[in-house]
Order: sequence, then C-alpha cells, then structure tokens
Amino acid sequence: MTQRIRKAVFPVAGLGTRFLPATKTVPKEMLPIIDKPLIQYAVDEAIEAGCDTLIFVTNRYKHSVADYFDKAYELEQKLERAGKTEQLELVRNVLPPHVRAVFVTQAEALGLGHAVLCAKPIVGDEPFAVLLPDDLIWNRGGAGALAQMADAAEASGASIIAVQDVPRDQTGSYGIVATEPFGGRSGRITAIVEKPKPDVAPSTLAVVGRYVLDSRIFPLLESTTPGAGGEIQLTDAIATLMAESQVHAYRFQGTRFDCGTHIGLIEATIRYALDHEKLSDAARTMMQDALSELGVQDLQ
Ligand code: G1P
Repeated sequence: MTQRIRKAVFPVAGLGTRFLPATKTVPKEMLPIIDKPLIQYAVDEAIEAGCDTLIFVTNRYKHSVADYFDKAYELEQKLERAGKTEQLELVRNVLPPHVRAVFVTQAEALGLGHAVLCAKPIVGDEPFAVLLPDDLIWNRGGAGALAQMADAAEASGASIIAVQDVPRDQTGSYGIVATEPFGGRSGRITAIVEKPKPDVAPSTLAVVGRYVLDSRIFPLLESTTPGAGGEIQLTDAIATLMAESQVHAYRFQGTRFDCGTHIGLIEATIRYALDHEKLSDAARTMMQDALSELGVQDLQ
C-alpha cells in the first residue's frame, strides 16, 4: 500500500448511552469541546492528513450530523447581512470546498466492523482511514495523528493502527495488540484481540481509534462472524488481514482524550481551554480559584 489515503470513514452510529440524557437528542459526536463538536476535530484531522472524501456511517437518528456538514443558507445570509464576517467564515469552513461528505446508513447496530463495511461501496479498492471521533487526539503544534500514520503507511506499504499503553486493568475496554520490537514509532503486529481480560491480554498496548487500512479488509469483514459483545468486530477482521499483509502498530505523537467517557470529555475541555488563545488566562484563573475554594472546604 504505497498510495496516499484520500478517504476517511467516521463510524457515528453509536447510541452514546453514557451521555444520556444529553444524547437523547444530541448525538455524542455533536457534543462540543469549547465551540466545536467532537466530530469536527476528527474531520479536521482527516483533512489535514490529505483526505478529501469523508464517509459518515450514521443511523436514522443522526440527522444533525448531516445537517452540521450541510450548507446553512439562511444562517449564512443572516451573518452576511449583519456583517459578522468572522462567524460567517467559521460556519463556511466546517468543510473546505475541495472536501465532499458522503453519508451512508448502518441500518442495524451490528458492531464497528459492520459499520466500516457499510462504507465499502464508497471506498472501493484503495487504502483508507477510519477515525473514531470519541478518541480526540491533540498534538499541540505538530502533525495530527492521522497525518503521521498516513506518512507511515505510504512509506511502509503496511496497514497502520494507532496504539498507546494503558494500565493492565483497562485492557477489557480496548483492542490489545502484541508486536515485534518497535523500530521508531512502529512495530509489526503479531496478534490482536478485542477487549481481553487483564489476565489473558497479550500486552498492555491498546488500539486507539485511528486506522489506515488496506481495502482487502472489506471481504474479510464480510466473512467475520460476531465476536466480543456479540458484535462484528473490526479487530477480528484485522487479525485475519495480518495473515495476508503487514499490519503495523503505531505509537503516535500526541495526547489522546477518551471523549466517550465523562472524565475524558472534561479533561479535553480543560486542556483546550488552557491552551485557547482567548480563554486561557480566564480558564487558568477560574481553575485556580475553583481548586483553592475546594481546598478550603476540604480543610473544614
Ligand atoms: C473500539 C474498538 C477497540 C478500540 C477502541 C478505541 O472499541 O473496537 O478495539 O480499542 O474502539 O477507542 P469501542 O470503544 O467502540 O468499544
């Protein structure tokens, strides 16, 4: 695989039950970090990596994701008339003109592997990316995680899976890989297993939601039977792909926030606020005040 990726798949059909009641009407991918929804961070990362075709795998309840990437004529007119050029640019730049968004529906929630398979007719026969928007990856001032991985894929011809070390008691929340020794940031995967219990996990190196995959994954997904949690797992198809082509784990540069959890969403919000050009001073003062207030209460 020496072709540069151009297409990115965003599985966004999950129910987001952890964030109920907020996600009763707002898809979890639309929850904001400061002023951008989570999905926008993943989209920006894909575009930065060179993708110009974004494939959103949604369900019938997620109209707001499609609405968000659609042109908002009335809003744009109003902002234009009011001379609010800065805001107008923000609304228009949700997707740059050279990028197209395609929406496919996953009729049944059969798992991540099945969601990726739904994108097959649009991806066709070329390497592509998968980004799970829950995993927000921040690489202050440097290249985004997917751009790093796309470079590695182009150079090696391998499929590339993002990984990071996790505490052993958390292996049950991730795909876990075993690898050959790393050369630099990547190492060839020798085993991959979905959500193993800590005592049987082959390592503590966990899959994070960024993948660059060979299109040969599609026929393999078609014949993948339900695995962990009764779902068709992308991890299981990757395990089969390893038998016929190289799959590398990649330790990306950057910090990953698990925005599929309450604490991860809070952590991301705090980090982005502390680094925000307009909000950082106020955020810092506010946090110091809040901490010292709590400190005083603790002493009472
Ligand atoms: C999915 C994948 C898992 C991966 C994780 C990363 O799990 O199945 O292999 O480690 O994303 O966030 P999920 O979190 O959707 O259960």
